[in-house]
Amino acid sequence: MGLSPIGGWWMGAALAVALAAPVVAASSGTGAPDWWSPGEGKRMPAEASYDNPYGKLTVLNTTGPIETAGHPFFTPLGANGRACVTCHQPSDGMSVSAAHIQARWLETKGKDPLFAAVDGSNCPALPQDKRASHSLLLDHGLFRIFVPWPPKNADGSSLNPDFSIEVVRDPTGCNTDKTYGLKSANPMVSVFRRPRPAVNTKYLTTPDSIAGFNAKTGMPFARDPETGAFVSQELMADGRTLTLKTQAVDAGLSHLETAAPLSPAQLNAIVAFETQVYAAQSASSIGGAFAATGAPPGLGALAMAKGRPGILGNDLKTPVFQSFEVWRPKPGGPTDAGAAFRASVVRGADLYMTKTFWIRDSAHLNTVGLGNPIKRTCSTCHNAQMTGMDVAPGWMDIGTNNLPTADPLAHLPLFKVTCRKDAYPHPFLGRVIYTHDPGRALTTGKCDDVGSITMQQFRGLAARAPYFANGSAKDLMALIVYYDRRYEMKLTDQEKQDFVNFMSVL
Ligand code: HEC
Ligand code: HEC
Repeated sequence: MGLSPIGGWWMGAALAVALAAPVVAASSGTGAPDWWSPGEGKRMPAEASYDNPYGKLTVLNTTGPIETAGHPFFTPLGANGRACVTCHQPSDGMSVSAAHIQARWLETKGKDPLFAAVDGSNCPALPQDKRASHSLLLDHGLFRIFVPWPPKNADGSSLNPDFSIEVVRDPTGCNTDKTYGLKSANPMVSVFRRPRPAVNTKYLTTPDSIAGFNAKTGMPFARDPETGAFVSQELMADGRTLTLKTQAVDAGLSHLETAAPLSPAQLNAIVAFETQVYAAQSASSIGGAFAATGAPPGLGALAMAKGRPGILGNDLKTPVFQSFEVWRPKPGGPTDAGAAFRASVVRGADLYMTKTFWIRDSAHLNTVGLGNPIKRTCSTCHNAQMTGMDVAPGWMDIGTNNLPTADPLAHLPLFKVTCRKDAYPHPFLGRVIYTHDPGRALTTGKCDDVGSITMQQFRGLAARAPYFANGSAKDLMALIVYYDRRYEMKLTDQEKQDFVNFMSVL
């Protein structure tokens, strides 16, 4: 092909984690609701497809239809009437889109438990019946994430952070609130984040292949508090929970307002559900259904179910989203709009793997021994096959939250982080950092981590705008425009569209 493989930061060979492909139950047809309210008690089909702006997304339960009556993922377990499914909707690729949130507001006049004061409003202290009090959720798809300050270790003890944090701007009022703020009796930092897709979880939880060590930091991996096994450290924007179980406990206490941690039986049922459900885009409104003969092998929910986690995909022999060759135009082939769309997807896939640009000043990428800047590709950072995450713990600071690189985000809080003199500073921003979300640093207390976010999986992107943890990219075009500006990629309009079309089929 004349394209030379471009290596990622990862120099070693990834050892594939061999897992048997699950047996996929036969499809039980449709009948799935577009919006799933808690406690509906309906049966969730083994396979169901949902429309979205780019085409269709398919959700696959590999253990067969799910009886949701009494199932803890689908049942309100706490004080506010929400269930996990409230924010992890099958039709939105197990996240929830801003479009869907707005529709619920209109349909329920703001009474859906989605809008619960605790984190479905800009701050619980605000009058809850006003639209303006829910503007971050309605306009940007963002929920309030509140974490204790100073941060806590896994055993619950407080850790001594490298930095102090002050509130510079507080459009929601929550960080300066007397009950919920940084100076309250229980000091808390409130940041605002998108729900991450609770699906395809084997790819999120499989630790990377060099047993025991984070190849980027040389530090030992964290371990599952229950089993002692190494964990991937890829969950949540800030990696604050280590396993699906501890994540579910955290989600119960915060989002569902459960009085006590979920029971072992509830946790087991939630994790069992999460580890068998797969989702991916399955049809394009222009390019047609992927299941039609000759679809690229990496597309669709079944490919996700069958695929193996932990495979490094940053060279042209094992591309991140596998081969798109079947869609590459051939002499004498069709020339209709569908074929033109598929050709654009192929160009986007090529750009993703081979278009080089100067990646600079990105903490946890330009600091791992490769130099700064380095001329690499999207797949350098997003290198894990099937998801586009990182085979190693993927928190990095690409500038989405820190000034001066973040988009103008006047609706979000702005913090001033001041690092202690004896602390290791942020590698590119020094000891005083202005940020909308300290990200990973809210878990570790390290200056080095301020603004770093664990990258999300790329599956079902079409169904769950807006993007980035802080929702700053309103659609896929805005996401690619961010990269074009941030890394001076100088993309043509056609290249941007090719990237968008490529991302829209994942
Ligand atoms: C009010 C909305 C809401 C509810 C209800 C909710 N979540 Fe979430 N979920 C989120 C948000 C927001 C995040 C991202 C948090 C972050 O990155 O800090 C998330 C993240 C996750 C993730 C991490 C995925 C990844 O890629 O890191 C999983 C798994 C998950 N939720 C499962 C659950 C489960 C299980 C429940 C029920 C016990 C639940 N959620 C209830 C909003 C919600
Ligand atoms: C230096 C590493 C790096 C490079 C290079 C990079 N990304 Fe990212 N990407 C990240 C990180 C970190 C995040 C999470 C950022 C956040 O949420 O604030 C992310 C998030 C994403 C997401 C997920 C958004 C979501 O909300 O689910 C997509 C899609 C994406 N990047 C596409 C791309 C494309 C396309 C390119 C090439 C033009 C690219 N990235 C280049 C590190 C990188």
